[in-house]
Amino acid sequence: MENISVIGAGVMGHGIAQVFAMNNFNVFLVDINEEILRKAIEQIQWSLKKFSEKKIIKEEEINSIISRIKILTNIEGAAKNSDFIIEAVPEKMDLKKQIFKILDEKSPKHAILATNTSSLSITEISEVTKRPEKVIGMHFFNPPQLMKLVEIIKGKYTNEETIKKTIEICEKIGKKPILVKKDVRGFIVNRMLHQFLNEAFWTVYRKEAIIEEIDSIVKYVAKFPMGAFELADYIGLDIVLNVSEILEKAYGLRAKVCPIIKNYVEKGKLGRKTGIGFYDWSKGRPEIGLITNSKYDIIRAYAIIVNEAAYLIYEDVSNPRDIDIAMKLGAGWPEGPCEIADRIGIDIIHNKLQEMYEKYKEEIYNPCKLLKEYINNGRLGKKSGKGFYEYKEITN
Ligand code: 3HC
Repeated sequence: MENISVIGAGVMGHGIAQVFAMNNFNVFLVDINEEILRKAIEQIQWSLKKFSEKKIIKEEEINSIISRIKILTNIEGAAKNSDFIIEAVPEKMDLKKQIFKILDEKSPKHAILATNTSSLSITEISEVTKRPEKVIGMHFFNPPQLMKLVEIIKGKYTNEETIKKTIEICEKIGKKPILVKKDVRGFIVNRMLHQFLNEAFWTVYRKEAIIEEIDSIVKYVAKFPMGAFELADYIGLDIVLNVSEILEKAYGLRAKVCPIIKNYVEKGKLGRKTGIGFYDWSKGRPEIGLITNSKYDIIRAYAIIVNEAAYLIYEDVSNPRDIDIAMKLGAGWPEGPCEIADRIGIDIIHNKLQEMYEKYKEEIYNPCKLLKEYINNGRLGKKSGKGFYEYKEITN
């Protein structure tokens, strides 16, 4: 497999194209007009320059990498010459279906058709093609140039050969593939991130803390690479809202969207890409200050993310090891949620959820049954020698 097409040259598409080109693939990068494609190449040039400054690549390699990327506005032209195609267009099911129909008609019979969708159904997308067994989810993380994770999602019809080839291609481009066992909305990382962001949004909405306090604790105490609001701005508040609405539809009150995010989107304040969101990005990345007397209790955020991890395990979507790897490589967290739970104590986490559930009467805080089961079986985490993981030595 040498010829790759990336359909959509936005934030994700241009980054994915760059990653393939850096790993010696020939890439067709397709979008609807020249202007978008020109901007995409500029962004790739910027990123490659950064890599050369950091000695990840040699400066003289920049031109040859760029020369491996052919930009076009003609989707058919790209499809007919590709062995592997990744769609990365906006999250609209109708648009994706329209594109998959064309890709199916125009690409060679052996070509695998992957979608970078963050939340939509792989099965539904595959059903518009005559090769649903060759349709697969291949979900990258922003920025694709730096984030090591790719979630691989099997649709109802995806066959083992397609999974095997997609895993191989991920490894060839230096990414870590994690197989998501079920085609559920939000897969692993977006489900976790959504609950984490949503709890931060609701906390500010209820005026229990301010944005800067939460982000300061998330960054300096939890040591996540970005504060919750900073990350939302970085992803794009329109994208966060879109994913949130898909998740709310799938999981109901447990993923109830906070009005705060809608307010920002309605005002066109979409975060980094518009220069303003929760923060002012007009002069670059915002400085998150250290607030030592913050009222925000990080155990709240931990409780929410552990709860979501428990749901993922309970629903057999994933397992502790894969969830932890996914959050560390897809979102840059220093520890995965299952590691956090075992360190802090599953009983402590459960008590926090119970306390918040009683206080707010909101489903987002309703503890997953799995946590209670663990507690009843003495699986409290490191302190009892067993939690999400087993520990040979009991340490306090
Ligand atoms: N290419 C090359 N270099 C880049 C780059 C890119 N695309 N983006 C940033 N850099 C560079 C920066 O310019 C900076 O260079 P410098 O040292 O010369 O100034 C360097 O990388 C480090 O960046 P920062 O100083 O901004 O700081 P960080 O150390 O925090 O690293 C980060 C940046 C890797 C983005 C880190 O903050 C991080 O991991 N953030 C979390 C991102 C995340 O959670 N992503 C997932 C979002 S959800 C998603 O994508 C799913 C979707 O479906 C919604």
